[in-house]
Amino acid sequence: MAFEGIGLRLRFLLLHRHHLRRITHKREMPHADSSLVPDEIQTKAQFWSHVYMQLVPLLDGQRNWVSNLANASSLIYNALLAFRTHFGPDPGRSVNWCGFYIDSACFPKSADSNIEGRRLLLGPFCGKPACQFINVTPGKARGVCADAFMHAKTKLVPDVDSYPGHIACDGETKSEIVCPLLNGNQVLGVLDLDCLAIAGFDEDDQKGLERITELVVTACDW
Ligand code: SME
Repeated sequence: MAFEGIGLRLRFLLLHRHHLRRITHKREMPHADSSLVPDEIQTKAQFWSHVYMQLVPLLDGQRNWVSNLANASSLIYNALLAFRTHFGPDPGRSVNWCGFYIDSACFPKSADSNIEGRRLLLGPFCGKPACQFINVTPGKARGVCADAFMHAKTKLVPDVDSYPGHIACDGETKSEIVCPLLNGNQVLGVLDLDCLAIAGFDEDDQKGLERITELVVTACDW
């Protein structure tokens, strides 16, 4: 386990060394400013590359997944709301939830360990309160998060009402994207985003979010 941790740390430093070098000058910036989106950012590709660059220093020097997922969900959520071209603050097309569901095996031993079957537990998020857990026991699993977790594949859902088994944590959600957190062959959990607009997310968001989940996974000890 200790060797695995060192391996992941090395992978993170090697993968992101160029970014870490380029952004050292930003260290003095207040953390909240990471979620600002400059006006010149217009396309989704530019936006996701900007968010990625802001996330690298926020994760630097911290390996605890609770802390890192908390900052990652806040950065993504607030940056999306500040990205006027495609998302908020127009309430009709805003992102209304961004957060993580994590395999209960990653949490400290708790009452949950007596429960039969496998579950994802609610992790750090931004938005309104949401379901505490998601069942991922084969045969009982249901919903977008469970499907992304069990198939280890991103689920892009343009209309949640036509997705069989969708779990409505918020009746106002119209579309959703869920990316698995992949650590080699292991799936640690998912990153879930909800939007108030139909077809709020597209393949560009998928590409950007998958890159971000890779960064987050390598930045943490699990
Ligand atoms: N809609 C998800 C449940 C999680 S909430 O959206 C935050 C699903 O179907 O799995």
